[in-house]
Formats: sequence, C-alpha cells, structure tokens
Amino acid sequence: MRITVLIENTAPEHSGLQAEHGLSFLIRTGGHLLLLDAGETGAFWDNAVALGEDLGTVELAAISHGHHDHANGFVRFFQGNASAPVYLRASAWGNFVAPRGGELRYIGMAAALRKYAGRFRTAEGICSLLSGVWLTPPPEEGRGADASLWERDGAGALGPDRFAHEQAMVLDEGKGLVILSPCSHCGIDRIAAAVCAAFPGRPLLGVLGGFHMRAGAVGGLNRPEEEVRRVARQLARLGAGRIWTGHCTGNAARAILQEELGERLQPPLTTGLSIEL
Ligand SMILES: [Fe+2]
Ligand SMILES: [Fe+2]
Repeated sequence: MRITVLIENTAPEHSGLQAEHGLSFLIRTGGHLLLLDAGETGAFWDNAVALGEDLGTVELAAISHGHHDHANGFVRFFQGNASAPVYLRASAWGNFVAPRGGELRYIGMAAALRKYAGRFRTAEGICSLLSGVWLTPPPEEGRGADASLWERDGAGALGPDRFAHEQAMVLDEGKGLVILSPCSHCGIDRIAAAVCAAFPGRPLLGVLGGFHMRAGAVGGLNRPEEEVRRVARQLARLGAGRIWTGHCTGNAARAILQEELGERLQPPLTTGLSIEL
C-alpha cells in the first residue's frame, strides 16, 4: 500500500505544497483509492493536483472525528468528487468547543457540510469498508481523555467531549495491520491496543497519525512527560513496527517518543510525504 500525506502542519521548503493546521491521508490499497480526512481549507486538493493525484477518482472516504481541521476540507472534496461516500461516526456532528483566546470557540464541522448530507454514511462498531479496510470505534476506556475539550448538548449545557465521534482506519494487505489515527484524542496507546485486540494474531506493521500531545502552537506538552513515555512503551509492547507522527504531536513529545521508540519512530509526517508499507 501507499499512503500519501496531502496536508499537514508543515511542508518541505520549496516543495510548492501548502501546509495548514490539519491532516489528510490519501491511501492506495488493493487497487482502491481512499481518503481519510481533508484538512481545514481545501488546500489538500491543490496539493493532490500538484502531486499528480486525481481525487475525483477516490472511491471511499472517511472523517476521523468531528473537528474542523480534519473535516472542513470535505466541502472542497464534494465539489470535485461526485460519488465517493464519506463515513463518519453519528456523533461527529456534535457541538464541540474548546478554549481559544479566553473564550470557548466552536471547533466542530462546518455548517456548509450539511448541504452534502446525502454523501455521508454512518460507521458503527468495526465497520468493514472493503476487503482489508476497516473503521474502528473509539476504545471505551479512552473516552474523555482530554479535559480541555468540551461538547454542548442540545440545551447548550457543557460536558466533556468523550470522543465517541473518533474512529481509526485499519488496513491489512496480508502483512499485518496498519493503523491511521489522525488526531488520537482517545490516546494512541488505547486506540492501538483496541485495534490489536479486535484483530488478534495480526502483527502491527505501522501506526500513522497525530497523537494529540502538544500544548500551545509549537512546543509544549499537554500531559506529563511520564505519560508520553508510557504511551510510547505501550506502542512498543504492541510490537508497532514503524511509527509516523506529526500534526498535533508537537516537538516536545516527539523528542520523548524518539528516546523511547528509537528506530521505530520514522521521520515526521509532512505534506507530500509518501509512505510505502
Ligand atoms: Fe487535529
Ligand atoms: Fe482533533
């Protein structure tokens, strides 16, 4: 399989590719073309064109969770792709809010996406999309892992976002499992453990995604250092062969992951990166 990063927070200098706070993966597996997430602004589509990819031929797509930086680019996707269904969890349309600049701001999916209601499909449980391609539900234990993210209910009351709207994509071409988890709010350790439990006996070939460990715009950690080390050790214990991370992982967490994971940790995710697995 080949996985191409269509957008990420960074892009190589002079690549001509656009970067933004967001993530989008293009996946070629078993002769199929799939999309997981679309970033925020639609720039992922321009990057795909620059990389020689025709997103009009994507057959199936999915949204990892109902946050703007993964979902809103689908407005552009629907303008250019007339047929691919887009799978999400039913609760992805929630009223999600987070503290930004001293107030709680909406960070959910754009209202403009509702115009394309007919294109969305609800994924439930372990949802098989194609032979060797699944969407997996959030691990029960991991829900509500980040106390700074909130959800308003229908009456406007605030409660913690329990991330029932998060899903991972799992691929298996026969060599083992590859987990794509773009933001990992439920914890990549718990997500990977749940996937391994759901597919017993399959080796864990690769893990790709944002690990939601960054605080602030660049460097800080949103959890104690020991917690990052514990997550890394769990990934190693699960036998994760190669790990690619970026987006919401942050430099501080990356340095710790590097210490714990050594050669398992691959170069950072960046726009235009293409990975053969
Ligand atoms: Fe994100
Ligand atoms: Fe997110």
